[in-house]
Amino acid sequence: MCLALYWCAHQLCAWHFVAARIVRYTWPVLKIGRLELKSILCLAPLAGYTGLPFRLTIREPGGLGLAATELVNARSLIERQRKAFELIETRPEDRPLAVQLFGSVPEEMGDAAAWLESQGADVIDINMGCPVPKVRRTGAGIALMATPEKAVQLAQAVVNAVRIPVTVKMRLGMDGTRIVAPDLAKAMEDAGVAALCVHGRTGAQGFSGAVSLDGIRSVVQAVRRIPVIGNGDVTTPEAARLMIEKTGCVGISIGRGAFYNPWIFAHTDHYLRTGELLPEPSFDDRVLFMTRHLDRMIEMFGEARGCMMFRKIAPLYTRLFGPATLFKQRIVHLSSRSQFDEIIEEYRSWRRAFTDGEGNLLPRYRPAPLTASFM
Ligand SMILES: Cc1cc2nc3c(=O)[nH]c(=O)nc-3n(C[C@H](O)[C@H](O)[C@H](O)COP(=O)(O)O)c2cc1C
Repeated sequence: MCLALYWCAHQLCAWHFVAARIVRYTWPVLKIGRLELKSILCLAPLAGYTGLPFRLTIREPGGLGLAATELVNARSLIERQRKAFELIETRPEDRPLAVQLFGSVPEEMGDAAAWLESQGADVIDINMGCPVPKVRRTGAGIALMATPEKAVQLAQAVVNAVRIPVTVKMRLGMDGTRIVAPDLAKAMEDAGVAALCVHGRTGAQGFSGAVSLDGIRSVVQAVRRIPVIGNGDVTTPEAARLMIEKTGCVGISIGRGAFYNPWIFAHTDHYLRTGELLPEPSFDDRVLFMTRHLDRMIEMFGEARGCMMFRKIAPLYTRLFGPATLFKQRIVHLSSRSQFDEIIEEYRSWRRAFTDGEGNLLPRYRPAPLTASFM
């Protein structure tokens, strides 16, 4: 009996050893400098949406390798402005975390990065992709792609100021006639940047129009060692796999897709490892997730301000709710937590007209499946 037990335990250990080795060889890995991530999937920053309350909530289903703060003005951080401090607020459960800085003065960027390192940031990410005029006009964000020498100086100053990895998030260029990403990527690698995230659009495209997989691939081919993370329009596990296959990127960054399906990181991670597609979350699951996000907004900002900020955020969750006009009309007036419950109840009964006896949307009211612009 004892011997049999010993034999079983031995077999189990041996199997685990073999399995661990297979896992080591086949699991995709994303390493940023010395930081090895648990998954190759990253949360793309969405200003006004992906603050601490969202990051804590999206980490719960699993599958997320690295999250980033929304873009933070380096100068405001040095000046210890309240808004900048709110943007970098974090918790031990919110790790690993990259803090994304924007600015156009190398010394300020270096000082802000050094201070963030002293506060425990895991990664400093430099924004070179934001096309919003308020940012661009100061020579920061996408404007840096038009002034590559300045962009390199800026990155160099940050790399010299810290020991943690520095990454850069860029686009393909200012517009279709000025595709500078491959050259800039090479220069960033030479400056000591540890990884690049490339949104496969130009600044002129904004946030819509086709994502160019060829554009992302040309960046992958331009660099020698550092990992490239692909970004843009990944809203399904299949889109993530296609982007990896067609571009050779080793990581994927997802922004809006995380609201359309908050399980996207868990499901994509599972799909990339096993090839199996997990079932979509139900309407009730999505509502529960959204409610947890709102509760954390209220916890962080107080009921009045949390609800006000959530007015803009909530509609992004509705992409796969089916008919949602009533919800969108009501949510823009949200001012208390109890009102949110009332809106959800009212919406549930309104939505019943579009569902069968089991609460599933009737086929004619189902939203079209999400497909990326590059699929
Ligand atoms: C509302 C909004 C806010 C954004 N804020 C930021 C930001 O703070 N920093 C940044 O690098 N990119 C920002 N982006 C760009 C996203 O990170 C991402 O590159 C883009 O949305 C494409 O990815 P997606 O299709 O997965 O959303 C923002 C995009 C949107 C739509």
